[in-house]
Amino acid sequence: MEILDLVVSDVRQLTPLVRQITLRAANGQALPATQAGAHVKVSVPGLDEPRSYSLVLAQAESCTSGGVQAYRLGVRLEPEGAGGSRYMHGLQAGDSVRASAPRNDFPLQDHAGPAVLIAGGIGITPILSMAGALREAGRPFQVRYCASGREHMAFLDELQAAADGCLTLHAADTPDGRLELAALMAGLPRDSHLYVCGPRRMLDEVLEHSKTLAWPACQLHFELFETAAPQAGDQPFEIELRQSGMVLQVPADQTIADVLEAAGCDPMYDCKRGECGVCSVDVLEGIPDHRDYFLSDSEKAAGKVIQICISRAKSPRLVLDL
Ligand code: FES
Repeated sequence: MEILDLVVSDVRQLTPLVRQITLRAANGQALPATQAGAHVKVSVPGLDEPRSYSLVLAQAESCTSGGVQAYRLGVRLEPEGAGGSRYMHGLQAGDSVRASAPRNDFPLQDHAGPAVLIAGGIGITPILSMAGALREAGRPFQVRYCASGREHMAFLDELQAAADGCLTLHAADTPDGRLELAALMAGLPRDSHLYVCGPRRMLDEVLEHSKTLAWPACQLHFELFETAAPQAGDQPFEIELRQSGMVLQVPADQTIADVLEAAGCDPMYDCKRGECGVCSVDVLEGIPDHRDYFLSDSEKAAGKVIQICISRAKSPRLVLDL
């Protein structure tokens, strides 16, 4: 993974909780070009894992044929989080930052049907970039931007410019402001492609309606910002690694992948959000508690594979083919 040495060139407070942070190459040269939907992983002092932030690429002027002059990020402050957003909100112009080169796990696809872009909260960052790209390409699209209130809608001016006439705001604190996903999805042309970026509950709702409507999976694209988080009622469980014979305890507030790493193993993973499938491990005994968005319903029902970055156990013990 290419690591970039960057410097903060500008910081702006966009809403009470969201800051825009602009980063340029420390050596003054152009940064690797990228596309709507891409993210960078920023190293955070004191945290083992870098934090992923989508790039805001609505400014066409920031792109040159040789690369991109700057990367803009939108970061929502999570006061109770692990510390990534607090670090980002503490950055000042001139500070140094290390980040991975952009990678795009949430690209716009080629399709003739309209794109329906749905953003929840800070999920607007890749959606704004997509709106700009679709507008530039002359492709049909609409944007639904959901937030708890209008004052929490970051990048609104840019979004209104990029999605003029195709934008609907859903401020939950206004009468009828909440987006009715079921009604929206039921009324869409069936060749529409949905792009969703927002909190887990929004994605879960979209997935539930997509099942009801038999929405083709290939027409549903999404990205979560959240990594694995403990849920109410989570219990510790035991894992046995059949190949090595190791037996480890997975506490209620840790993932299998975390426990394996702490024990000196080298588990494969990437997204740590249950989306990419990289961390799949065969289950030899026990009942997985699937929390990922990668396995199909039938694969989950079969219980033969688990995504160790996020899923847990319904049984007291899992035996894994590791
Ligand atoms: S690391 Fe991506 S699904 Fe687990």
